[in-house]
Amino acid sequence: MSNPRSVAASLVNRVLLDKRSLTQALAEDRAGAQARTPDARAAAQGLAYGTLRQAGTLRYYLSRLVGRPLEPGDLLGTLLVGLYELDAGDTPAYAVVHETVDLAARRHPRARNFVNAVLRNFQRRQKALRADARADPEARWNFPAWWLKRLQGEYPRDWEAIVTIQNSHPPMTLRVNRRRTTPEDTLAGLDAAGIPARRSGPWAITLERPLPIAELPGFAAGQVSVQDLGAQWAALLLEVGDGMRVLDACAAPGGKTGHLLELAALDLVALDSDAGRLERVRENLDRLGLDATLLAADAADPGAWWDGKPFDRILLDAPCTASGVARRHPDGKWLKRAEDMQHLGEEQARLLEALWPLLKPGGKMVYATCSLFGMENNGQVTAFLQRHPDARRETYDPPGAREGQLLPGPDTDGFFYARLHKT
Ligand SMILES: C[S@@+](CC[C@H](N)C(=O)[O-])C[C@H]1O[C@@H](n2cnc3c(N)ncnc32)[C@H](O)[C@@H]1O
Repeated sequence: MSNPRSVAASLVNRVLLDKRSLTQALAEDRAGAQARTPDARAAAQGLAYGTLRQAGTLRYYLSRLVGRPLEPGDLLGTLLVGLYELDAGDTPAYAVVHETVDLAARRHPRARNFVNAVLRNFQRRQKALRADARADPEARWNFPAWWLKRLQGEYPRDWEAIVTIQNSHPPMTLRVNRRRTTPEDTLAGLDAAGIPARRSGPWAITLERPLPIAELPGFAAGQVSVQDLGAQWAALLLEVGDGMRVLDACAAPGGKTGHLLELAALDLVALDSDAGRLERVRENLDRLGLDATLLAADAADPGAWWDGKPFDRILLDAPCTASGVARRHPDGKWLKRAEDMQHLGEEQARLLEALWPLLKPGGKMVYATCSLFGMENNGQVTAFLQRHPDARRETYDPPGAREGQLLPGPDTDGFFYARLHKT
């Protein structure tokens, strides 16, 4: 299993066939990953992410080349990774075909000729297939048809730029821990290590090229974290100050929890319904030298966990379609279904309703999502304001946002923020 191609094929199968997220699949794969070199691990992840980013095109090719259900079904991952490498990779084609056929034959000896025929056929018909793919929206844009339709409806001018940027490689952005260092010193340290980088936000530094975390100066010492620039606005918008009592209602894996605690000395409760993911919050806080009360509970059921003391600030980073972060999590677009919008919308409204009474008069709540879909964002907030006359929306947008909606761009993923003031 130490061959990156074989690991990538199994990760792709885990996402497309078993409907696991790539993060879950990678975590489940940890035991195997430990046996591999960091380079092999990076190569496997590069292939898996690349294949999933372009799975619309690659599945289209496969359907044209095979034209019947795959047998056995788990050849899917192997074939998609092979097609990805032939279509977009820089490994010589003969090596890709040879190694992919070997890989398939190891698991399914009778598949050797079939896999060989599919890949060689692709090489022969590549030009025509590429041209034909442009007529099929899912193959052309690498997003499910329902998702594209929604984006086109909501962003008639911007949708093409949005999907184009979401099909590119995301930048790697650091958040500087202001308790341990400064952006200036961090930039100087990166420069001294020969890592080109630039300041991109109040606490943000964007690297010219992504790096494995292990090679990042100051990461293990808690001087920096990895966090998208757009995600860094959440904690800033909450306007926290020393001594405040703060609730981070959907906290895991703790990116924003850490940022809040870096900004001020807080009495912070970090809650998440997923106890496993909550462990990641503890790991992150330990690395940063910070502390919070961690609770595994349903935030929308305060009777089960709240001690009755109201909060000065609440961050509700609600579960959503994650349509704004498809560049960083290309598995999400193939896992979410149009029907999920309804269920997620109900959950977002349930969380808003349950948490509002926990906020002190004069307190502030930031409602955040990493979605581009209006129904999860301004739709949710408008309906909430109609139900709550004691809530006022403060017009404060992060740079580049419109009505709280930050669109994906070269430096940032897509997020939505609304700050609600309790009058
Ligand atoms: C967008 S993620 C949060 C990301 C996190 N704030 C960060 O910056 O790292 C949403 C989180 O909400 C959690 N969640 C979903 N429903 C919840 C509920 N009813 N109560 C508490 N947490 C919930 C999920 O487990 C998930 O970890």
